[in-house]
Amino acid sequence: MDYKVADLSLAAFGRREIQLAEHEMPGLMAVRREYAESKPLRGAKIMGSLHMTIQTAVLIETLVELGADVRWVSCNIFSTQDHAAAAVVVGPGGTPDDLRGVPVFAWKGETLEEYWWCTDQALAWPDGTGPNMILDDGGDATLLVHKGAEYEKAGAVPSASEDDPEEWKVILDLLRRTVDGSGRWTKTAERIKGVTEETTTGVHRLYEMAKAGTLAFPAINVNDSVTKSKFDNKYGCRHSVIDGLNRATDVLIGGKVAVVCGYGDVGKGCSDALRGQGARVIVTEIDPICALQAAMDGFQVTTLDDVVETADIFVTTTGNFNIITADHMARMKHQAIVSNIGHFDNEIDMAGLAKIPGIKKEEVKPQVHTWTFEDGHSIIVLAEGRLMNLGCATGHPSFVMSNSFTNQVIAQIELFTKTENYPVGVYTLPKHLDEKVARLHLDALGVKLTTLTKEQAAYIGVDVEGPYKSDHYRY
Ligand code: NAI
Repeated sequence: MDYKVADLSLAAFGRREIQLAEHEMPGLMAVRREYAESKPLRGAKIMGSLHMTIQTAVLIETLVELGADVRWVSCNIFSTQDHAAAAVVVGPGGTPDDLRGVPVFAWKGETLEEYWWCTDQALAWPDGTGPNMILDDGGDATLLVHKGAEYEKAGAVPSASEDDPEEWKVILDLLRRTVDGSGRWTKTAERIKGVTEETTTGVHRLYEMAKAGTLAFPAINVNDSVTKSKFDNKYGCRHSVIDGLNRATDVLIGGKVAVVCGYGDVGKGCSDALRGQGARVIVTEIDPICALQAAMDGFQVTTLDDVVETADIFVTTTGNFNIITADHMARMKHQAIVSNIGHFDNEIDMAGLAKIPGIKKEEVKPQVHTWTFEDGHSIIVLAEGRLMNLGCATGHPSFVMSNSFTNQVIAQIELFTKTENYPVGVYTLPKHLDEKVARLHLDALGVKLTTLTKEQAAYIGVDVEGPYKSDHYRY
């Protein structure tokens, strides 16, 4: 088996944590039982690009149990849990000398070149073909296939300009080596039946491609299942934002002033968590609806410029870029903590920070750095501006990821087995499947659901078995 992980001897530890996680992931385990016989993913060759954590290991092994042939990478250079990666390669019942698992190309602390090398490896099947399904988080695998096919069609890969971000230069370099007349990327794009996308940022990219008419295969937007974004983004971040801050800095949060940029699903979870720790939370927003929500939830809403000099902790949650600029960071107070929990690292202008004359970067420990300005004051930047809950901690806990990943598995089954129902475009899962995901998680929490009477169901115009809400209901 071809693979590349940090250390296979960590597999036994990884396996023990996977076993604990399985108990906390009732949705995935129920799906395994439901499809144990029929194996609906038999014939699926799934390339996954999603944080290689313990929870993801349970997802991968569910896909395998349903019949899929899987290759995997992390979607972030810092988010891999090396014991999880090792355990997936070794596989259930395997040993480091007897590998029975899945090829994984991921380790914590990849360089950008290594990250894109891994993505390329996972997109290439040993039989010379590629995947027929992608499971993506943030859209990097989808982007590589699309760009490869686009440049093959154009007959050349453009040169990078000096101002291009570092990562784009790395991608172009990889494509220059792989757009070689073999038509590899075009064939890969043609072979792919569809992609299921995990997060807000990746979904945004998919809708843009669909609008521009460049989307090459159908996509299911998993993020906008209610049981994904209203749970993982909100309750997941409510848990893991604090975990990231604590493991990185151990600073007491109570009494501090914390600024949360963005009050979408992630921002709501983060603001709630920081308030729960006793911080005075200030929110910034550009959307009047979210700003009003934040105000009515009891948060002060103002601009970053107003508070940048006085706040202690900053968390960006916007999925947008240049939210905290180099100038903002220069104005912050001594040892202010700067972090991002949005998908990409450009929410904080790290490149601009590095260019400030006289600035000095020092590693406190991996993924925690002080940046000291010429006047002697410094700030603490977490995970080099990348998502801090996965860079500095272990991301979301299993139970919430069980909701997200059950949606992923159902979406993979939908696209793979009912391909003809999904012409090229971006779809969300139907409401009854969203409700099914929630239902699978009720027992574990001791929830007793009330059953509608026939008369009540008729009165509110729904079926006794659901769906209970119209598609535009907002929860
Ligand atoms: P969302 O779209 O619900 O929320 C983003 C909010 O930021 C919006 O309300 C928007 O109006 C606001 N915003 C945009 N530009 C702004 C600016 N310049 N200043 C202040 N506010 C601004 O998106 P969601 O679902 O909350 O996701 C946010 C990001 O987090 C995405 O990149 C997503 O992929 C990522 N994400 C990360 C997770 C993690 O575990 N780290 C988990 C889930 C999502």
